[in-house]
Amino acid sequence: MKYLPRTILPLILALLALVSLVNAAQAQDSIRRGRALVGEFCSRCHAVARWGKSPNRDALPLRTLGRNFDLDQFPRLLERGISSTHPDMPEIKFSEDDAHAAAAYLRSIQR
Ligand code: HEC
Repeated sequence: MKYLPRTILPLILALLALVSLVNAAQAQDSIRRGRALVGEFCSRCHAVARWGKSPNRDALPLRTLGRNFDLDQFPRLLERGISSTHPDMPEIKFSEDDAHAAAAYLRSIQR
């Protein structure tokens, strides 16, 4: 019993490290998926990277979105569909997962 802490502690630490690794990997995954989604649905008009101009001159580069929008609220907007503010835009509705992934990506490119 005396040696138990010495063996268990490193195990616990290793487990914690693993959990945080998995979390980080999931966050990365979400951002990657968000990038694909935003690329598919928004890049026709908006600049969707950290640089570059929007193909549609009236469409803001999405990296500046955070200036006017609360990005925490953005997933809900994407789920509801943002066509109300988008005369030219086809109706786009994201699933909850997709909306969160897209928002995670958008958050990652904000300036
Ligand atoms: C067919 C072109 C087109 C596509 C595709 C498109 N947008 Fe837009 N978007 C625009 C234009 C043009 C504007 C600016 C004029 C306006 O507000 O209607 C705009 C404005 C916006 C605004 C600001 C709206 C406001 O009320 O100020 C947001 C946010 C936005 N787009 C997000 C997105 C996202 C996210 C996607 C992808 C899911 C997307 N857009 C896809 C053309 C597009």
